[in-house]
Amino acid sequence: MVLGDREVLYRLNLRARLPFRILDFIGEIPAGDRHELYTSVQTVDWEDRLPPDLTLAVRATGKSLALNHTHFTALQVKNGIVAWQEGHWGRRSAVNTEDPDVQIEVYIEGETATLWRDSSGSSLHRRGYRPAVGVAPLKESLASALLMLAQWEGQTAFCDPLCGSGTLLLEAAAIAINQAPGLYRDRFGFFTWPDFDRELWQRLRQAALQQQKSRLDIPIVGSDGDEEAIARASHNAHQSGLAHLVRFSLREIQDLVAPAPQGILMCNPPYGLRLGGDRDLGEFYRELGKVLKQQFGGWTAYILSGNKIMGTTLGLKSCQRWPVWNGTLPCQLLKYELF
Ligand SMILES: C[S@@+](CC[C@H](N)C(=O)[O-])C[C@H]1O[C@@H](n2cnc3c(N)ncnc32)[C@H](O)[C@@H]1O
Repeated sequence: MVLGDREVLYRLNLRARLPFRILDFIGEIPAGDRHELYTSVQTVDWEDRLPPDLTLAVRATGKSLALNHTHFTALQVKNGIVAWQEGHWGRRSAVNTEDPDVQIEVYIEGETATLWRDSSGSSLHRRGYRPAVGVAPLKESLASALLMLAQWEGQTAFCDPLCGSGTLLLEAAAIAINQAPGLYRDRFGFFTWPDFDRELWQRLRQAALQQQKSRLDIPIVGSDGDEEAIARASHNAHQSGLAHLVRFSLREIQDLVAPAPQGILMCNPPYGLRLGGDRDLGEFYRELGKVLKQQFGGWTAYILSGNKIMGTTLGLKSCQRWPVWNGTLPCQLLKYELF
């Protein structure tokens, strides 16, 4: 939990690369059973948080013996809030589960419920620049996390030879120029809160734009064997304002050439599982290993592996590995020093 004011909340939404949502803590209330939850929700002061002209949704997580169905828990909280509104204003919020003005989160643990407002709205991994996704794209937040594990700060050449929709390259370029990840989102949850300070938000956004570098002295290059993937990646690069920093080309891995004497290569090869079948995967990994050895001496490679056969068929010895979840897939990020 971070203690901070409205500015901290806006800054986190604008600048944090890893979290999915930033929640604004409302309070902890007793919730021994449904009746207690319903009445204790009405001890919260909703006046500044939820006037009745705003729409509402409640999402519940966690369970206890007495409250063991999240949908039912959410309903109790919603009923408690609208009862409070009826008592206070004689009117109540309409429910809109698709696109609410105020999204309330409730977490049940033991006999306690914790309440938050979701300040982000849709998940923050959606930067707003990527309408064009491919078959198995990485989430932007995962791509950023992998880059942080590799201690990427934009000081050396960067290459993704299996770039798909370009996520790793665009996150790498964004980190390198200090581009705030929230700059291209057109909406955050707090935009529809009653206390939304538009002027403060615009000021923080402008400051982020000014702190961004406009050029880089290192190459960031991506390639892929699929023409449509390259078209998608270029489109996304334009959407994110990063097109001038990233070079894309249509290229099979056996035709790869290192774009600089040293740098960081990072990619997530097909696992089979998500792209359909283990067809020729062994051969593909052997080819990838061969190209890395022959073309990328002096580089450090990071490969996200979701497939046990990759580690053995690549023919390279990793010097470090990190367990990573790619959605629900257990994977490993493998590091290779190439000589
Ligand atoms: C798992 S996807 C990468 C997804 C990417 N990281 C993203 O976020 O969109 C693997 C990519 O490898 C490419 N690929 C597969 N075999 C290839 C080959 N022999 N040469 C070049 N690219 C290949 C596919 O076209 C696909 O885009």
